[in-house]
Amino acid sequence: MNGLPLDDAAMKPLPAPRPDARFLRTLRGLPVDATPVWFMRQAGRALPEYRRIREHATLLEITRDAALCAEVTLQPVRRLGVDAAILFADITTPLAGIGVAFDIVEGRGPVIERPIRTMADVEALHVFDAVTSVAPLLEAISIIRSESPVPLIGFAGAPFTLACYLVEGGPSRDFLHTKRLMHAEPETWRLLLDRLVAMTIAYLGAQVAAGVEAIQIFDSWVGGLSPLDYERRLWAHMRTLFDGIATLGVPSIHFGVGTSGILAQQASAGGDAIGLDWRIALSEGRALVGDRAVQGNLDPTLLLGPWDATEEAARWVLAQNNHRPGHVFNLGHGVLPTTDPDHLARLVDLVHAHGPSSEAAR
Ligand code: CP3
Repeated sequence: MNGLPLDDAAMKPLPAPRPDARFLRTLRGLPVDATPVWFMRQAGRALPEYRRIREHATLLEITRDAALCAEVTLQPVRRLGVDAAILFADITTPLAGIGVAFDIVEGRGPVIERPIRTMADVEALHVFDAVTSVAPLLEAISIIRSESPVPLIGFAGAPFTLACYLVEGGPSRDFLHTKRLMHAEPETWRLLLDRLVAMTIAYLGAQVAAGVEAIQIFDSWVGGLSPLDYERRLWAHMRTLFDGIATLGVPSIHFGVGTSGILAQQASAGGDAIGLDWRIALSEGRALVGDRAVQGNLDPTLLLGPWDATEEAARWVLAQNNHRPGHVFNLGHGVLPTTDPDHLARLVDLVHAHGPSSEAAR
């Protein structure tokens, strides 16, 4: 760790809030001068300046070095002109703080040393303490907060998506162990989810105290659940999570992939804005989530093709929203590693040039 000891960083007064930023206004459903845009996984392998850093530092090393983490977080803000920064970390980052040993394996993803499958495994998890487990990350937030011209998004994985890694022991396509646990051992499942919700509220509370100005919950794998299982096995936990987040005083985005069949349930669990993937027309997604802002929803694959195809699809997404307040432009999932960063920068300009949102369009 370098720079300020955490206590000093935590004591440093935060820069003034900026509620007028178009990204934050949009999350509150207010009209703005231009549609705000940022990209999930904007800090990462699509940027050559990031790849240069990765030549001598792993993901885990970056998240344990406040200055490096701040640098990587700010790279896409400088290069692309996006309206928000997202803290550079992984959804597995807080797991060490509850006693889970894991590694990030190149080309594969997070691998858990001892999968969590029994009541005894769940009971052995520790209570999360942000200061002892993610101090450099909190310090990075304070650096970014004072250097970034745009709001900083903090984030966490949703309990189901985290459970998929913990129970499977690594990346999975069909989450067989996780679903089996959910149905065959409902009490173990409930306790595991309770623990993950408590960890996540504490982790996000520490991020907000350190200076993040909005929060995104990534439920990347929740599209694997039926609406019935979402209702019976997950909804109440998500509601507890969002009730906890609501007390933190910053707006939240609730994102998932493959969620067209459960959007209304997700929205009723919570979130100021609901993330949409590309499998649903944005106007249809908006109708399903009620009086909420939405975020999305260009297919990230389009950025690999010719600019004309990107432009046509981006204009369609914008037309679907038709200048209503409450649309944050984003991809439907993360930036793919082979994306040309010039396409991303051009897309930011296109979205900004599209014009303002207004109450009249509502
Ligand atoms: O490009 C890189 O080298 C980035 C470094 C890296 C991240 N995660 C950054 C990250 C690496 C090597 C990982 C490991 C990892 N973690 C993988 C392997 C494949 C991959 O994408 O590199 C996976 C699948 C995970 C699990 C994970 N992390 C999920 C499901 C999510 C939620 C977002 C999503 O893609 O569905 C994350 C979040 C994440 N990983 C972020 C970053 C910087 C934060 C979110 C963001 O930037 O938008």
